[in-house]
Amino acid sequence: MAFDNKLVEEILKRADIVDVISSYINVIKKGKNYLAICPFHDDHHPSMSISREKQIYKCYSCGNGGNVITFVMNYEHVKFFDALKKIAEIIGYDDPRLHETIKVVSTNPSLDVLYDCSAELTKFYQYALSTDEGKIARDYLDARSLGENIRTKFCLGYAFNDGRLTIEYLTKKGFSLKNIENIGIALARHASTTDNNAGRLIFPLFDLEGRPVGYSARRLNDDKSLPKYVNSPETSIFHKSNLLYNFHNASQTCRRDGYIYVVEGFMDVFAIDEIGISSVVALMGTALTKEHLQLLKRTNVEVRLCLDGDVAGKSATMKAIKELDEARIPHRIVYMDNELRDPDEILRGDGPDKLRFYLNNLTDAFNFSLAYYINTSPIDSPEAAKEIIKSFVPLFANITDQLSYDNYLYKLSEATHYDARALRTYLASLVTAYRQKKVVEEESIVVPDALNLSYTYNRQLKGPLRRLLLIEDKMLQQMVLHEEAVNFYEQNIKYFFDEVNRMIANFLIDYLENHEKLDLSEIVAMVEESDVKDKEEIKKKLTDIAYIDAEPYSEEMLVEYKKIIDEQKQKIYERKRLEASLKETTSESDKARIIRDYNKMRYKDFQQSNTEDDKDEKK
Ligand code: UTP
Ligand code: MN
Repeated sequence: MAFDNKLVEEILKRADIVDVISSYINVIKKGKNYLAICPFHDDHHPSMSISREKQIYKCYSCGNGGNVITFVMNYEHVKFFDALKKIAEIIGYDDPRLHETIKVVSTNPSLDVLYDCSAELTKFYQYALSTDEGKIARDYLDARSLGENIRTKFCLGYAFNDGRLTIEYLTKKGFSLKNIENIGIALARHASTTDNNAGRLIFPLFDLEGRPVGYSARRLNDDKSLPKYVNSPETSIFHKSNLLYNFHNASQTCRRDGYIYVVEGFMDVFAIDEIGISSVVALMGTALTKEHLQLLKRTNVEVRLCLDGDVAGKSATMKAIKELDEARIPHRIVYMDNELRDPDEILRGDGPDKLRFYLNNLTDAFNFSLAYYINTSPIDSPEAAKEIIKSFVPLFANITDQLSYDNYLYKLSEATHYDARALRTYLASLVTAYRQKKVVEEESIVVPDALNLSYTYNRQLKGPLRRLLLIEDKMLQQMVLHEEAVNFYEQNIKYFFDEVNRMIANFLIDYLENHEKLDLSEIVAMVEESDVKDKEEIKKKLTDIAYIDAEPYSEEMLVEYKKIIDEQKQKIYERKRLEASLKETTSESDKARIIRDYNKMRYKDFQQSNTEDDKDEKK
């Protein structure tokens, strides 16, 4: 194991999963367990269950589950050790071992080479910026007042005009043409391989952990016949729609700040960063995606939309408001009146105070939307007024205090020239209808049947295999709960048929070598730290079985399980043998004899023991 597991255990003992999760999201008590809106998918219904007793959590909708460390890793997008540090921080625990630096072994070596290649390339571009040829790019940055701080913090660079130099450099560093192609720089199959970014200013694009994974390359002149920015294509480490520029920095500061600005481009990020606000991310010219919404939601802070002031930007803002509302992310909008310049242009034109003034000039969704409608569609008929009123229904439906409700109502009445009393009645009926529809929608989300063990494996399976896996699950469930069952497995069963089951059994055995009692949360931590390939599946299965009520433990039951397991295994192997011998046989009469023998044996079997197989097959 890579870390001091005593330290992991100490922290796990002190950290209560309910307390830690509550420090990130709202948690409500429901019976023995706690419930929360799951932050790992677009959840509208509390699908996440947290068990204080077992110190694990599980989302019944998206399947995410694990212990307190898993939660923090997923929520904060950090590795195991960093999650441990964060938990220690939350519970106010300190230990010198937390400050040691640890070499983390990555779990996906095939991607490692691409991350390395990208890191090397970023250095090369940075170097190119410092050369004689790079002067043209430095001059450009000077002209746009992008100083040393920004250049370093965001690793800005330049790509030499001769694009073959990039390829040569990376090849010399030991990367294959295939690697180079795989980070999206060039097409290796072309005879004259060259860098697509040649002659451009380079903005590396970072993933959530701050590693460079792609590039945006800006032309250095005003030649409108060339694209302004050239972006890396999608690669296995670069997924543009999942990224928000600067999220790796902003996510560190936004909780302290209590907000996160969302702007259009990286030039705007630089401008806002320069005036001391680092909680800012850029969409890079695309609309808000589902992934963006999830990232923003996880920050748990107010989103401050600051998109362009032109018609396209305003309509993008309207769309974003709607999506943020639906995702229940709190937000306000930077109100710039009739300003058409972007934050970068405001800073360069009018200075930091003006930009700061604008960024603090916030309006809410209602006022922004009202202004938008009034400016874009004249309210010149009762029908037009009704249409506008209707679009405000979701907003009114979510208001809980009467004062704001009235305030908005009068504003809407004024804007639409609708009599306030008539409007109140009209709105009330629309709001009621809207809420009813919403309730129906939300109630129809069914929580998967957690009590049915068989959903953890393929429902298509039939016969002996199906029953074998079902019993293996039951056995495993006892093993997770009772040390004696682990011993029983070691001595009598020895080997599960299912690979994931087998790996879990091995983890349990390993764990009991150094511990008296089983502790599910610590076992999940052990899986998390390990390098096994099916980590996610193992965690999922462990949390799945832990959430199902087990049959009361008895040694006789284990003996019964073993008997069924052996029988089913035997049947599976017999069938396999039959299939193998049929394949080898060419003579029809031999085939008939083999099948007859097999059936005879099966018939004997059938008389002796049970008829379950056939019952099963009829299902
Ligand atoms: P903008 O056109 O607003 O660019 O596009 P900008 O950030 O103000 O850049 P300058 O000031 O002209 O240099 C906003 C974002 O859209 C993406 C970029 O990520 C840019 O930051 N974009 C724009 C492209 O990907 N390709 C393009 O051709 C243009
Ligand atoms: Mn600009």
